[in-house]
Amino acid sequence: MTRLLHVTGPDDPAILEAAAVLAMGGLVAFPTETVYGLGADGLNPEAVARIYAAKGRPATNPVILHVADAAAARELVSSWSAEAQGLAERFWPGPLTLVLPASNLVPSIVRAGGSTVALRCPAHPVALALIRATGRPLAAPSANRSQHLSPTLAQHVASSLGDAVDLILDAGPTAAGLESTILDLTGGRPRILRPGPIGPAELAVLVGPVDLWEGAVKAGEVQAAPGMAERHYAPRARLELVAPGAGLMEVSGLVAYVGLGSLPDLPETVRGILLPMDADAVAARLYALLHELDDAGFERIFMERPPENEAWLAVRDRLWRASAKEQP
Ligand code: TXA
Ligand code: MG
Repeated sequence: MTRLLHVTGPDDPAILEAAAVLAMGGLVAFPTETVYGLGADGLNPEAVARIYAAKGRPATNPVILHVADAAAARELVSSWSAEAQGLAERFWPGPLTLVLPASNLVPSIVRAGGSTVALRCPAHPVALALIRATGRPLAAPSANRSQHLSPTLAQHVASSLGDAVDLILDAGPTAAGLESTILDLTGGRPRILRPGPIGPAELAVLVGPVDLWEGAVKAGEVQAAPGMAERHYAPRARLELVAPGAGLMEVSGLVAYVGLGSLPDLPETVRGILLPMDADAVAARLYALLHELDDAGFERIFMERPPENEAWLAVRDRLWRASAKEQP
């Protein structure tokens, strides 16, 4: 049976209980500022293996190690560049994951056999308290079944993973709502593998121009960013992106239409949902909305295509993936 404990802050005794579960090789779902993570002791390969089993995650997809500060990150890499130091000083704790050459402390299963490690210091008091109480880096992917929507509420974790997780720490909805920005620092120029709350312009101020990885992945290899597989972060309902204000012809079944900033006239049978024309607000709300529509049995969701500018980059990326056709 999965236990769910409400946590009110970093001093909540539930955090010590959770640390004890982690120390014994168990799995604890915990809140971060982006989405809930499924945590295990990142230096214990058997515990990390349980993450892969619980998620149904392919062994080729590495996991992020969560640390409490830059000093802890440095232990886990074979070289810590001036770029990494500058980015950590500016953006940690925060929704930025850095990919760096791994030190031999990092178990192979965390790296999916590769030579690099993804590190992040989350800006959530409960996450930081948990990492400190455990005294270990926490391996933690998003706490959902592989290829499903990431959880922004504890209930999303419970319904996606069920008994596979030993303990869920519930601290309410996560703030950012989309996963962290992943920046690869192992090549020539820094490269964004996954757009997120921290955009290219903010990064460029510190490290100069950054590339944006847009390639598709090939199955069975250790990929640059396996989580960037085309269809990912997907709801069960079929999601289609439409031109702003396009509206809908008569449709059958349970259908929702999500407008940005305004809603066109819609057929009576269509549920209209209005989101603000504000990228951060849509990011914070998006996954919870898709979870709600799935739970309510919606078959199709039409959503207006967001603007093409950088503010919407991470939202566009997730919508594009969630609306991509199922891969064979
Ligand atoms: O906001 C987040 O990053 C959340 C919270 C829980 O911290 N975590 C998260 O983890 O989104 P996950 O596993 O769902 O997504 C992490 C992505 C995956 O696409 C994985 O392939 C990629 O990071 N990744 C992990 N290690 C990597 C590495 N060494 N090199 C390149 N990509 C890596
Ligand atoms: Mg994920």
